[in-house]
Amino acid sequence: MKSVFTFLFAVLLVGPAIAAKMPMPSDMPKSYDAECASCHMAYPPGLLSEKSWQNVMSGLSKHFGTDASIDEKEKSEITIWLKKNAATKQKYSETAPENRISKTSWFIREHDEIKADVWKRAGIKSPANCGACHTTAAEGIFSEKNIAIPKK
Ligand code: HEC
Ligand code: HEC
Repeated sequence: MKSVFTFLFAVLLVGPAIAAKMPMPSDMPKSYDAECASCHMAYPPGLLSEKSWQNVMSGLSKHFGTDASIDEKEKSEITIWLKKNAATKQKYSETAPENRISKTSWFIREHDEIKADVWKRAGIKSPANCGACHTTAAEGIFSEKNIAIPKK
């Protein structure tokens, strides 16, 4: 009997933690770090659907107000890797509006407690700045216990 309770307890504890983990796959090409992590963090591929990554990678010359173009060889290497490791869980698989993780319906739902003025704090600046609040964002861990919202 005791083991049944231990099991249930473990499921309750581990369940949500697993849901919030999109670890960076170990086969990440060096080009991803070099080309896609200079202006913002290297977003783990599991945060967007295959279609959305395709859309991001097809529009690099007009990338959120900047030109993030790269050479064809790196572009194809990164695109293949992103699509291979894209979101598989139903929850994260929608085609992202404006190609933004931060505009997906799951993102909006998970962050509905955060007030508009909080997003604008100097220490945060943008919902796309995951690492401002998720202290382990770079490792793809977004669990509740690893959140610290900057006070200003
Ligand atoms: C020259 C700077 C620059 C480079 C290089 C760059 N980005 Fe971005 N990226 C941006 C800016 C600016 C935004 C918008 C950030 C914001 O709204 O705060 C952005 C946003 C994004 C977003 C959406 C974030 C969200 O959910 O709102 C994704 C996805 C993304 N970039 C992927 C990539 C990928 C993949 C690469 C490499 C091929 C890359 N970026 C390279 C500047 C860059
Ligand atoms: C202003 C701070 C802040 C920023 C910036 C932010 N988040 Fe969050 N995030 C939170 C809070 C607060 C929660 C809700 C935690 C809770 O109550 O479950 C959350 C929840 C989540 C969850 C669900 C966690 C779970 O346990 O199920 C995910 C996944 C997530 N965020 C991903 C992201 C990603 C990806 C980005 C960047 C594109 C981001 N967040 C940007 C504060 C932030």
